[in-house]
Amino acid sequence: MPTSRTVLVTGGNRGIGYAIAERMLADGHRVAVTSRSGEGPEGSLTVRAEMTDAASIDAAFTEVEAHLGPVEVIVANAGITKDTLLLRMTEEEFTSVIDTNLTGTFRVVKRAAKGLLKGRFGRVILISSVVGLYGGPGQINYSSSKAGLVGFARSLTRELGSRGITANVIAPGFVETDMTAALPEAQQQQYLGSIPAGRFGQVAEIAGAASFLAGDDAAYVSGAVIPVDGGLGMGH
Ligand SMILES: NC(=O)c1ccc[n+]([C@@H]2O[C@H](COP(=O)([O-])OP(=O)(O)OC[C@H]3O[C@@H](n4cnc5c(N)ncnc54)[C@H](OP(=O)(O)O)[C@@H]3O)[C@@H](O)[C@H]2O)c1
Repeated sequence: MPTSRTVLVTGGNRGIGYAIAERMLADGHRVAVTSRSGEGPEGSLTVRAEMTDAASIDAAFTEVEAHLGPVEVIVANAGITKDTLLLRMTEEEFTSVIDTNLTGTFRVVKRAAKGLLKGRFGRVILISSVVGLYGGPGQINYSSSKAGLVGFARSLTRELGSRGITANVIAPGFVETDMTAALPEAQQQQYLGSIPAGRFGQVAEIAGAASFLAGDDAAYVSGAVIPVDGGLGMGH
């Protein structure tokens, strides 16, 4: 069993975030999830938070701290897509994806940082995407937000690395969730053809990487981008 920590997963009411929360509970951690609607898995504490609103994130942290103690492991998972080609993309479609995925992560990690420094321990796990470094047509907004998380984790590692705090990125490939189910069938089949593993990923496979990064064995892993993508993005 790893050391038991207080873990907060954003967007833990469904998809990858829900699976990460389930895995963290199975690992013996105290787990809270943020949600706008719905609940995290049984055994977790669900708190309301909107990633575009710093005050709601602050209130969510305060509630988690009151019930479970200082947050030690942050999994910044909440994210959206608004796919469309550059020539059709509005500025709102660009900035709203950045605001949720990248600035939302900034709001969450900034709120967490003081507590991590005080406890001289922290694991910051950012859920990026294979398209952050690989690129994807129709995903200028999304891939920019996800590539930004790599610079974020590496700068954080340089700022706080000497204080027992690590910051890493998980870059999932195509994982079966609501987000990917929304893609046109033809696009899904096109992706499938380029994945060396010959299949899409499962949410539990992303949760496994998060479990490792939160656990005792990952104390010396920081600033890393861990692909969980069946080989889709290798070399990027
Ligand atoms: N699925 C994939 O293939 C894949 C691949 C690479 C990376 N990812 C990344 O993995 C993460 C999770 O993806 P998923 O497939 O599990 O997505 P999902 O099923 O669409 O779930 C997204 C989660 O983010 C939350 N969220 C979105 N916008 C939010 C906001 N403004 N404030 C608060 N919460 C917000 C959603 O809350 P609501 O339920 O309230 O909407 C939901 O809990 C995302 O960052 C995504 O970019 C996914």
